[in-house]
Amino acid sequence: MRLFRNIGTLVTMAPAARKSGRGIKESDLGFLRRAIVVEDGGRVVFVGHETDVPASLRRLSTVVDLRGRTVLPGFVECHTHLVFAGHRRDEFEARVRGATYAQISRRGGGIASTVRATRRASSATLIEAAQRRVDRFVVQGVTTLESKSGYGLSHAHELRLLRVLSKLRGPKIVRTYLGLHARPPGIRRLDRYFREVLSRTLPQLARQKLCERVDIFVEKGYFDLRQGRLYAEAARSLGLKVSVHADQLTRTGASRLVHLLGESADHLIHVDAADIGRFATSEATAVLLPAADLYLRCPYPPARRWIEAGARVALATDFNPGSSPTQDLSLVGVLARNEMRMTLPEVLTAYTVGGAFALGEQASAGSIEVGKACDLVVIDADWDELFYSVGYHPVVATYVRGRRVSLATKV
Ligand code: NIG
Ligand code: FE
Repeated sequence: MRLFRNIGTLVTMAPAARKSGRGIKESDLGFLRRAIVVEDGGRVVFVGHETDVPASLRRLSTVVDLRGRTVLPGFVECHTHLVFAGHRRDEFEARVRGATYAQISRRGGGIASTVRATRRASSATLIEAAQRRVDRFVVQGVTTLESKSGYGLSHAHELRLLRVLSKLRGPKIVRTYLGLHARPPGIRRLDRYFREVLSRTLPQLARQKLCERVDIFVEKGYFDLRQGRLYAEAARSLGLKVSVHADQLTRTGASRLVHLLGESADHLIHVDAADIGRFATSEATAVLLPAADLYLRCPYPPARRWIEAGARVALATDFNPGSSPTQDLSLVGVLARNEMRMTLPEVLTAYTVGGAFALGEQASAGSIEVGKACDLVVIDADWDELFYSVGYHPVVATYVRGRRVSLATKV
């Protein structure tokens, strides 16, 4: 049992969680001054003022003095692609010179080029590279981290990437199978691969508990809406959670699938009023990924329209070697504020409560409340210094389930 004392300002996010991340004002951040949090078995058992802690909890706990600092719920980074080998620096330069993402991919670059490099790499190499990336998120206060597979694109290679994900340490890792990320290199009969995913891979993933969620890239030149629907239905019936890369480069209408069948729809740039309206009443979360839009020079998603319609939004880096080669949460938050006009309380909620809902982890993550995981980020700054200076991360400690995370690699 641990008792965290001397917290100058505790930002619990509890009211934001009660509103399930919708219609957020500053008062929904749930401030508490001179607060104490007590953890037992990885869960929060007490949150309150110093003067109100029951004597029994004081007696039984190891005390951690946080020296007047600010504490928030650990950040939830709900969309990354962090298991890969190689890089795509040449593609960035090609885009600077005028090539588009779609043109590069038609020439055999893009996702296929990372697939080739990843297939060649040993599992040990992939684990080491992925762990370093995990640690770069931990030093920014991330306590729940999603990652997709998606650079294997065959039954065996995709399973290998999910096993790599199972080896990573530090934050809670949420694993998403993305076997339908692109046409696998050298495969002529895409429908045959698609059928194998549904009849063989998905059932095995569910049986062996190799992932919590599935994802698919529904886009012109990748997978279509009909395939998206069949895939989402199959995954759902096996008890897997569903997310979709939807309406990113062109409008496919894929956000509709998530409204019907899933937890999150991600990107959501080319959407109409009806798409947005459906999320107001749905349990699905709209995940917005502005760093990818920056790199691909896409329009930013219409965040104000989502929020004002009553939708719940989350933000994430979309970290991957192609469309978003950055792990910086502060960049994402600054783009959300400056380019998408999200307020700071909305950004903080999107990166905690919103992310937790997108992953279906809202019962244990996103806010500091009795019964939830004791996932904390301690910052040596006021809360409103966050998401202001790009590259500034005033994090002094990250606690996952009450334990301080020590880094596995040198970041
Ligand atoms: O989220 N859109 C599809 N997938 C990634 C890009 C992956 C890549 O280019 O390697 C994305 O933008
Ligand atoms: Fe992505």
